[in-house]
Amino acid sequence: MKARLAPLFGGWLLCLAFAPPVGAQPAPADGRQAVPRGTLPPWAARFEQEAVATDHPLASQAAAEVLAAGGSAADAAAAAMLALGVVNPASSGLGGGGFALYWDAGKQELAFLDFREQAPAAAAPDMFVRAPKPPGGGPLSTPSQLGGLASGVPGEPAGIEALLQRFGQLDWKTVVAPALRYATEGFAVSEELSEASAPFAEQMKRDPVMRRWFASGAARLQVGQRLRRPALARVLRVLARVGARGFYRGPLARRLAADVRRAGGILRAADLADYRVRWRRPIEQRAFGLRWVSAPPPSAGGFTLAMALQVLQRTAPAWRQQGEAAFLHAFAEALKGPYLDRMRYAADPDARPVPLGRLLEPRRAALRAATFSPWFALPARDYDLPLEERGSGGGDPVRDAGTSHLCVVDAAGNVAAVTTTVNLPFGARYTAAGVVMNDEMDDFATAPGQLNAFGLPGGEANLPAPGKRPVSSMSPTLVFDAQGRLLACAGASGGSRIPVATLQVLLRALVLGQPLPEALGAPRVHHQGIPPELRVEESVPLPEALQAELRALGHRIRPIGRVAVVQAVVLERDEPGAVRALWAGSDPRKGGRPAGR
Ligand code: DON
Repeated sequence: MKARLAPLFGGWLLCLAFAPPVGAQPAPADGRQAVPRGTLPPWAARFEQEAVATDHPLASQAAAEVLAAGGSAADAAAAAMLALGVVNPASSGLGGGGFALYWDAGKQELAFLDFREQAPAAAAPDMFVRAPKPPGGGPLSTPSQLGGLASGVPGEPAGIEALLQRFGQLDWKTVVAPALRYATEGFAVSEELSEASAPFAEQMKRDPVMRRWFASGAARLQVGQRLRRPALARVLRVLARVGARGFYRGPLARRLAADVRRAGGILRAADLADYRVRWRRPIEQRAFGLRWVSAPPPSAGGFTLAMALQVLQRTAPAWRQQGEAAFLHAFAEALKGPYLDRMRYAADPDARPVPLGRLLEPRRAALRAATFSPWFALPARDYDLPLEERGSGGGDPVRDAGTSHLCVVDAAGNVAAVTTTVNLPFGARYTAAGVVMNDEMDDFATAPGQLNAFGLPGGEANLPAPGKRPVSSMSPTLVFDAQGRLLACAGASGGSRIPVATLQVLLRALVLGQPLPEALGAPRVHHQGIPPELRVEESVPLPEALQAELRALGHRIRPIGRVAVVQAVVLERDEPGAVRALWAGSDPRKGGRPAGR
């Protein structure tokens, strides 16, 4: 990853060298990348009418193709999701699930769609305590991570259908077309996919479908290798013909369930037939004169963002205009409280109410802001505010390959912010009917206090139960100005680092006034309260001097490959509020490219 980013940024800085002198700025000493006006890195673009930002060039192209065919942001998002499931099976697909936040410009209405996976009817709170270790071993191979037991009931096909039915203009056949083309004609394996496959090749080769993806003797998928997905193409044709019903009922559903059980799972055809999406009320927070809208439970992302924003607004006099270290310090401190809240209270709201109103009370934010010191990093427990007297609620987080975020803005101003996932890279690392199956069950607490793959201790509220949805970090987010006009769409992949990275990029772009490529390219930090460490990226390193300043404030610094992968679109408006430009960016950390016109 480091090796790949270096030339990317190098190339960008080269553009800088040849940029016209007007507007060109020297690279700031704080590690941000200077973006000269008139030159853009290849992963960012300026459009005027519609914009797509995904983490794979072919997915952005699929969305652009569907927009050109008269589709709305929902149709284009659906096409991108379907394409992603083909070209990057490490991240997302029909065997996974996710969240979508949609802005209907005509009706001036927001909608939040939960198409997260849910536990099968035979799930139980102690199912992972009792479960034997799956055969094969290797990395990320607990029973909630590898094999059939790790899979929740997929929500992706139902989610796509719900988006199409409520906000789409086109039919399944049209939105499936690009994905079907990629699956049948083949596509070139990206550097990202090749890298993601390396640690898991042996596990993947145990699966009869994935085994065929590897050239004989290859230890990973090869960059540039042409991959065809005929088994998945058959599933896509069913969707094109009859829609999601063909996935959740009938012969395909029976085949899916049988394959999951063969891989050691408990999914039955009835679980598929019973799956339903949920429309929920998103979380809203006013801060810095803007209206921030993000994901409600079962995601913990929205309330993490909302609490951190409240605290940051209150501590702003101590960090605004005070330089990069002051900002990063205040940012890290603002995250510690909400991550403790998450460990204790986050749950599927249909299984156990999440006390959102109380969690986000301004009084709690005020207490946390009053605790904050611009001079010292405090232990997370100093920001702990249990709602009532009750018992309180690691491992090295994994590479953020198992998720994908995308933004689409169409010419009518509708916006789709979608984050979709199979959880860990290649999900549970087996296929059912050619579909890579999720290991979303690992987002449950496998036992109270047990750390999940992202080093988050599981709270008792998030134990598995029949039909329950595991707590997520996914945070598709939209930001509006005080007049209600849309300013930005963003979201990320990267497990527990998702809300942190999303908020970091949005704060840079909307509060600190950095151009989107600069906000996206800047080195990121991550803090989640537990363990007491400030993570800094190896792929985009924070300059040593800044790290030293943060250390001097008391932060324990530990490197991590990358702090999530963010896709974003920022709308530039003129004085009366008309859109002057759409700035779209695909995080350089993953190799995506935006599309639009
Ligand atoms: O829903 C969640 O929060 C996780 N399943 C997301 C996982 C993810 O971003 C993949 N990263 N390794």
